[in-house]
Amino acid sequence: MIAWTIVQIAVLIWAIQMLWKYYKANGGNKFGLPEPPGPYGLPVIGYLPFLGSEAQLTFAKLAQKYGDILQVQLGTQKVIVLNSLDVIKEAYIKDASFAGRPSSASFDTVLKSTTANLSFRTGDAQWKFLRKLSIKALSMFASSRNSRLEAVVDEANEELHAELKAFNGQPTDPQLNIFKCAASVIGTILFGLDFSSKDGILKPILLANQKFISFFAAGSVLDSLPLGPLIMRHKVNDFVKSIKPVGDIVDKHITEHLVHCEEEDDVRDVADAFALAAKQTPADVKQQLGLTDDIIRCISRDLFGAGFGTVMESFRWAVNLLAVFPDVQERARRELAEVCGDRPLRLTDRSNIPYNEAVMLEALRFGSLLPLSLPHSTMEDTTLRGYFIPKGTTIFSNLFAHHYDHQYFPDPDSFKPDRFLTADGKLDADKAQLVFPFGVGKRRCVGENLARQELSLLIGRLLQQFEIRQDPRNPVNIRDAIPGLTRGPIQTPLIFEKIVL
Ligand code: HEM
Repeated sequence: MIAWTIVQIAVLIWAIQMLWKYYKANGGNKFGLPEPPGPYGLPVIGYLPFLGSEAQLTFAKLAQKYGDILQVQLGTQKVIVLNSLDVIKEAYIKDASFAGRPSSASFDTVLKSTTANLSFRTGDAQWKFLRKLSIKALSMFASSRNSRLEAVVDEANEELHAELKAFNGQPTDPQLNIFKCAASVIGTILFGLDFSSKDGILKPILLANQKFISFFAAGSVLDSLPLGPLIMRHKVNDFVKSIKPVGDIVDKHITEHLVHCEEEDDVRDVADAFALAAKQTPADVKQQLGLTDDIIRCISRDLFGAGFGTVMESFRWAVNLLAVFPDVQERARRELAEVCGDRPLRLTDRSNIPYNEAVMLEALRFGSLLPLSLPHSTMEDTTLRGYFIPKGTTIFSNLFAHHYDHQYFPDPDSFKPDRFLTADGKLDADKAQLVFPFGVGKRRCVGENLARQELSLLIGRLLQQFEIRQDPRNPVNIRDAIPGLTRGPIQTPLIFEKIVL
């Protein structure tokens, strides 16, 4: 009898919720506008069971039926998905109310474990300030007055190339070598610390990176169900435990930087630039925003987290694709030889190597490493293309759907660097600007310039030294990816044949 009453009450609550939802979705709001359309899901769990492991593909399919702005209920989380470049731009560039981050269990886990954070913080005054400070610090380091990046990549490349050469043309999985190389570059750029030579440090960094990718996957039980944090308690604890050693390593090395830097010529790395930028900030602004040394430490950790795995995985996408397309590889290498001769590629050569630039762009498009970017959230009630979007709604921008949109990239499943060249072989700036691996608008990646420069050097210099081939017994799979927050490339053994100069 009691059980029957509970069921009746539950059904009644659900029916009231549905009616309320129907009323709100059909113009029951201050704008008198409907909410975006979308598929019906199941009670309580919504569309969660139908999402699949690659949510971007499911959303792209749903967009064919519901249009470029659609709504999906994932458990308790209402999510709006923007599926085309035009609509993403309209929301993220023109409307500041889309610059928030969700207050979800996964994001809150990170925010709780640190005093300050840039990537996961909502778009408030402190975020704005920290973002400005980060951009200033990163540009100080990557500016023409400070050309340390080339030297840093040189050092990391030397080690990577020596390791690849030692494989003597035998098929080998280069994942760990590439990981060490990327860790070395970002560690040196940020803190002057070569992580690659410290094996004790490498393991926790690699582990934290893996946990990070699965922890923030779209539509996780953690973020979608009311009891998610309780059910997934072990996962949360495991994640917090895995990121702690990385935070400790960063903190240890950042403390020294805070006293070192007085002027721009003292800048050895981003942490110095950060400390200097903070010193140059008026005391009243610092006090108002609570900019303490601890906050600088936290932001440096954040930059390391954001800038390491992303470059590493993008580099791996490029290496795998080059192995699959030897003709592309050969043409890129020929261009490098014509422009650089025997000397290593420099950043100043980039304007003279349009084909290599096109290869990098096409690898970024094809890999679409962050297929749904990072989730945004509306900071107030707003409207988009005649739809009402309430405050606090989670927003996904389907960058993957854009990168595979026939309208912008004909034959999108093919790897074709030529799509970015004009008829006379120059880089087509308009087409190049259609690739958005770094996101769009007010929260666009702050490390974009650095990442593009770094990738250009890593890919170009590898091509100058090695011919990359697939292992015929183990062909590279470029059609699938490892799902999560990022689409990691699937790694098979590759052959690196040293080119004799
Ligand atoms: C190929 C490499 C990279 C890719 C594909 C990439 C991609 C992205 C994307 C898609 C976003 C989210 C944009 C949005 O929310 O709309 C982002 C944010 C961010 N990225 Fe990157 N990124 C890369 C490298 C880097 C590097 C090297 C750094 C720093 C050293 C960095 C620091 C950040 C930070 C701090 C944010 C958060 C910005 C904010 O919330 O305001 N990223 N990145």
